[in-house]
Amino acid sequence: MKNFINIKDIPSKDLRRILKDAKKRKKERKKLSTLEVDKDKPLKGKLIIQMYEKPSSRTRLSFHLSIAQLAGGSITIKANELHLGKGGETLADTAKILSTYGDGFMLRTGSDKKIEDFSKNLTIPIINLLSPSSHPCQVLSDVFTVEEIKKKPISKLNICWIGDCNNVLNSLIATSVKLKFNLNVGCPKNYRPPNFVMDWVRKNKRKINIFNDPKKAAKNADVVFSDKVVSLNDKVNKTKKIKDFKNYRITPSLMKVTRPQSIFLHCLPRGNEVSEEVFLGKQSRVWQQALNRVHVQKSILLYCFNKLR
Ligand code: CP
Ligand code: NVA
Repeated sequence: MKNFINIKDIPSKDLRRILKDAKKRKKERKKLSTLEVDKDKPLKGKLIIQMYEKPSSRTRLSFHLSIAQLAGGSITIKANELHLGKGGETLADTAKILSTYGDGFMLRTGSDKKIEDFSKNLTIPIINLLSPSSHPCQVLSDVFTVEEIKKKPISKLNICWIGDCNNVLNSLIATSVKLKFNLNVGCPKNYRPPNFVMDWVRKNKRKINIFNDPKKAAKNADVVFSDKVVSLNDKVNKTKKIKDFKNYRITPSLMKVTRPQSIFLHCLPRGNEVSEEVFLGKQSRVWQQALNRVHVQKSILLYCFNKLR
């Protein structure tokens, strides 16, 4: 069994195996409807428990479908429905119970430490559904979408991120190191990726290019990513932060400096960081991006259960 917590801890070859498996499975179920199961029923008899301490639309629904298509069963709980925390039960006891009833556990939380603590106390795999520092399922799925649309390995493309240096960007940076692609980041001076992230990149002999001018960051990009300025786990003055990012909005004028066939991706939910013209425009692939979560997460689950084909 394996965990899927942070991209930086997963070997590149395993990331590639997950993407390959997802491509094959997506192709194989072209004629199947939403809840029909994959022929090999790889998670038959298994119960996967999803727990959310923070809101989610896409992650909870896409994982529900991922598990169902693999013939597994799922239950989704909110953190405040357990004795953990307010009810006074220890994390270790909760983990023991989760491991007794379930075969896999998935957690969206405001605490990276909680995921680590669960991973130490569970005897079943754990998947990170978003934490303050990481959104690994989103980003691996986004790489799948990029390669599906561009029909080439991401290492042959220029990837650009305009916006906050948040959990999604952290996972994108880790993936750029693992899968060796060019990554330009456009953000205000005071919001650059933290030193420990940049140190890790250097230690792994890779480079991320950081620009204060968003047009410089986006020049010749094949893919432009953005995300909300204020994240679920941000403890900031929201009004100030949004103001600080006012020049980092994705508009048609910004998209003009990118390559002719460039695409725009956004994990959703969105705010004012992208104009309506771009978000709903020809270059946007955000709905395909959201759908692909279902396919890639199936292969992430199979990776955790050592069932990748
Ligand atoms: N992109 C994403 O993770 O969306 P949710 O917050 O709705 O799950
Ligand atoms: N960075 C965002 C991603 C939401 C899917 C957040 O953490 O809220």
